[in-house]
Amino acid sequence: MNKKIFVLSGDGIGPEVIAQAEKVIKAIDETYNHKFELANGLIGAASIDATGEPLTDEVIAKCKSSDAVLLGAIGDPKYDNDPTKKVRPEQGLLKLRKALALYSNIRPINTYDILKDVSPLKNEKLKGVDLVIYRELTGGIYFGEKQLSADGNTASDLCSYSKEEITRIAKLAFEAAKLRRKKLTLVDKANVLETSRLWRKVVQDMAKKYPEVTVEYMYVDNAAMQMVINPASFDVVLTENMFGDIISDLASVLTGSLGMLPSSSIGKKVGMFEPCHGSYPQAAGKDIANPMATILSVAMMYDYFELHKEAKAIRDAVNWALTERVVTEDINKGNPSPCSTVGDLIAYHIEEKGDVQLNKKYMKDSKNCII
Ligand code: IPM
Ligand code: MN
Repeated sequence: MNKKIFVLSGDGIGPEVIAQAEKVIKAIDETYNHKFELANGLIGAASIDATGEPLTDEVIAKCKSSDAVLLGAIGDPKYDNDPTKKVRPEQGLLKLRKALALYSNIRPINTYDILKDVSPLKNEKLKGVDLVIYRELTGGIYFGEKQLSADGNTASDLCSYSKEEITRIAKLAFEAAKLRRKKLTLVDKANVLETSRLWRKVVQDMAKKYPEVTVEYMYVDNAAMQMVINPASFDVVLTENMFGDIISDLASVLTGSLGMLPSSSIGKKVGMFEPCHGSYPQAAGKDIANPMATILSVAMMYDYFELHKEAKAIRDAVNWALTERVVTEDINKGNPSPCSTVGDLIAYHIEEKGDVQLNKKYMKDSKNCII
């Protein structure tokens, strides 16, 4: 298969984790005879530094004419503590989500046996955890009108949703639930917010068309608690933009590390694939960031192209690296492997179709640790 992938590495650890994902794409190309053409552009603080804008029209056009976008991370501390800055890195990501109409952000939360001691939750709580968050991505408070009064003392962000915006993502979530454990939880704040009441109404109406799916309605504050005390009770979680942002970071704790969480964003035409984590500026340039979330996002990209064998080869390679403890310091503080080694060995595992043995003495050096 031939595909055009537009790569936006972004800021902080973005370029490092993306470099590992590119190794994986090359390994899949070679092993399964595909031709995925990679081109690069700027977004976020990197783009502001070069062009004055967090995302240029030229880059948007290139994304639109590709088959998929692969994104690293966005954000730079020099903007975080200066609320007066008008141009901000995150605006680039929001603009891109809107431009590509990426209304559905899908964040699967898996647990890995080998990581259960990394999670701060008790092991018994993690048994059977397997959920996926469907987060609405182009509406709600993120995109509503923003105002700051002339005297600078009052500010507002409008949260608005239309029936159509809710329907299109709810449909994807119901379809996913049908193929999974047939349970859907709508997370909202319908006891307070008008938008949440509209979500409930739309989802209640749609539920009639999916009699095999059990629908549960949960306020977001309760959902945050349930996610910690009873995470295995969730299957498909459907929610609006900001609640989805918050509960997906919370849910990452179940896996053990935010560095393990991939995502795909589906829209009208071009899909976008990105890790859920941020730009982790403290780690930038140190070769210590966990590239697995980005690599697993690449697996989601192959699934999106219906190349399921390739997606599985990537997941198998990640599972193998976890089992062999070829992992970064967020998972194994005592004896971490560098980000680049994790990428090298996952790519190597794919090329060798799983037939790899390691000399553990050299775990920090990918060249010497392959037997
Ligand atoms: C995410 C991030 C973004 C969001 C930021 C970087 C704008 O936190 O993808 O979860 O809030 O959506
Ligand atoms: Mn977030």
